[in-house]
Amino acid sequence: MTTGAFFNTYVTNGKEWNSKMIKAAVLGFGTVGSGVVELFDINRKSVRRRVPEGVEVKYILDLREFPDSPYADRVVHDFNIILDDPEIRVMCETMGGKEPAFTFTKKALERGISVCTSNKELVAAHGPELLRIAKENNCSYLFEASVGGGIPIIRPMNTSLAPEYITRIIGILNGTTNYMMTRMEQEDISFEDVLKQAQDRGYAERNPEADIEGHDACRKIAILSSLMCGKTVRYEDIPCEGISRISMLDVAYARSMGRAIKLLGISERDWQTGTFYVRTAPYMVPASHPLHGVEDVFNAVFVHGNLVDNLMFYGRGAGKFPTASAVVSDMLDCALNIGENIPIRWSDEKMELSDPALNSSRFFVRIPASEKEKASRLFRGYEEVSLASAPADEAAFTTGSMKESSFEDCARQLSEVRKVIRLLED
Ligand code: HSE
Repeated sequence: MTTGAFFNTYVTNGKEWNSKMIKAAVLGFGTVGSGVVELFDINRKSVRRRVPEGVEVKYILDLREFPDSPYADRVVHDFNIILDDPEIRVMCETMGGKEPAFTFTKKALERGISVCTSNKELVAAHGPELLRIAKENNCSYLFEASVGGGIPIIRPMNTSLAPEYITRIIGILNGTTNYMMTRMEQEDISFEDVLKQAQDRGYAERNPEADIEGHDACRKIAILSSLMCGKTVRYEDIPCEGISRISMLDVAYARSMGRAIKLLGISERDWQTGTFYVRTAPYMVPASHPLHGVEDVFNAVFVHGNLVDNLMFYGRGAGKFPTASAVVSDMLDCALNIGENIPIRWSDEKMELSDPALNSSRFFVRIPASEKEKASRLFRGYEEVSLASAPADEAAFTTGSMKESSFEDCARQLSEVRKVIRLLED
């Protein structure tokens, strides 16, 4: 047994105890939840530097038993044990999904227990309501890990960037799809095999459709957009397209143009006119853009503020310890603010999005070779893209910047359009 300098701390068999330690509970002992519990042991000293009293995970809620885990004695199956223990002041919700996470979070906040989460599905669906309940009960609802895994982005949006008019956010917000696109670009590997690799590494959602069809990235850009304007950007209102239609041929075309295909969440606000444009879709990113070099499971959030100009936040967007690190940073903030609310500006007033058809973009298009001449007359800024490995019956081109609605009018005049991918500008 050793004794510590703070509050008569005792360390017995690796377990720390003192009378003032902040008691916490972890809901969900999966990849991220187990990372949170382990992190308090692995980085015990740095936790102590921030919260001198120390933080103890008293309970772990999960449906399963973990007989071989060193934390087996903390596992409980009844949420009421946590709720009815007045010692619990901070809770981490890493269950994922809407229910029972929503009910448990609400009940905890109503008892004045601060809740920290990585659950973007819940934050995107009920963020403002949970923030309001937290405020009414002098506790906090924090969600740093819900966007960008280990990347600090929510806290900077709330604090460091508070004086800015943020005009643009472009994010690589899903580690699984970025990993998949990078492997497809660098190796000759099929979509199915690369998805399995991502799942084996613990990056993918339980239902991979959420990653592949862009819903996960869409929820994350909805959260960032809401923080950007302080109102609610509903993810259901955001046009959303994933990477399931991207082929090796598209990847090869992009490479021939010095571009890489990335699934992006984009949010643009014109503060003069009040228009707000949000979209999730695959884009061809030029080599000159800082997002081009973001590979594998890494995520990045590119932010433009009117005063600060361009910023880029970069790091691991998924995985056990990076995500756990973000959750624990929130838990430490809550532990330092017991009985107080850490404010986050996000009301439930709905933010109206502008009609995406009015937005302008450049496009990459694949068509039958027989339509080439017609396309060159129809599309402004037509520029042919040639690729040695392309099928003989095919032509590809890029357009100049055009309104989405004009692009669609032109595209309708062709007998067939095989693929359309937007180009990100420098
Ligand atoms: N499935 C998500 C991703 C996990 O791949 O980014 C982190 O939110």
